[in-house]
Amino acid sequence: MDEIKLEFLNPAHLADIVALQNLVVQHLTRKDMYYQNYETIEKRLKVAQAVVGAYCDDKLVGFHVMDTPDLSGDILAAELGWSPAELRKVVRLGPIAVHPDYRGRNIITRMVAVHLDLIRETDYRHVIATVSPYNYPSIKYLFSQGFRLEQITFRYHGNMTRCITHLDLGKPKTEELCRIKVAHDDLRTQKYLLARNFYGYGLIKTAEGYDILYGCQKDDCMEPWQERQL
Ligand SMILES: CC(C)(COP(=O)(O)OP(=O)(O)OC[C@H]1O[C@@H](n2cnc3c(N)ncnc32)[C@H](O)[C@@H]1OP(=O)(O)O)[C@@H](O)C(=O)NCCC(=O)NCCS
Repeated sequence: MDEIKLEFLNPAHLADIVALQNLVVQHLTRKDMYYQNYETIEKRLKVAQAVVGAYCDDKLVGFHVMDTPDLSGDILAAELGWSPAELRKVVRLGPIAVHPDYRGRNIITRMVAVHLDLIRETDYRHVIATVSPYNYPSIKYLFSQGFRLEQITFRYHGNMTRCITHLDLGKPKTEELCRIKVAHDDLRTQKYLLARNFYGYGLIKTAEGYDILYGCQKDDCMEPWQERQL
């Protein structure tokens, strides 16, 4: 296979990104896995190093957008429930897309690594990515980098289910307790666990698809079999 080269993109690349995005959307196995966010892409192309492109033989085969949004009026701020000071330390990942012919070559890992390395050099502490529970490659990638699935919500006029995943760069990785497996499409059980301080941290393939692994931290753990007033 030919070599993949990464470079930062600018407004001159908008037409190529839109063309790639259209193609990716046509090939989606579920239409609710990807939200076509032209506004963020256009805005971020004007910011140096905010959009990474992957090229193969001079053809754009992938892109990743990193955003440092003003969350003061954003629904995400209410969902996270963090103080204004903490919200100012949030970087959002995505949208991201890889051409269908170039999947399975870890292009996602390579593109996002460029941005994660940049983020680690700054004072930004929280990296947030929202992802469909049905998007196996994206969730697999996020867990591999230490992101935790912390909430399940709805986006884009309420008709796209999204997991809010969070990587706290200020917190060392710790072992999970009380590990539980849940089918990825069993949102009810996942929400039940999330309401009891559990979080998703991994996945495993099954005959039916894949399960999400949930766990919690010592002292935080509210066992799901105990009825408590939440
Ligand atoms: C999510 C996405 C960016 C991942 O890109 P990628 O560089 O192919 O990611 P990886 O190389 O890590 O792929 C790993 C998984 O993709 C799947 N995959 C591998 N080869 C594939 C192929 N030829 N075609 C489709 N999927 C393939 C496999 O499930 C693989 O995981 P597995 O080895 O455990 O089975 C890409 O799938 C994509 O563009 N999806 C559509 C857009 C989208 O959903 N974006 C995220 C929301 S913003």
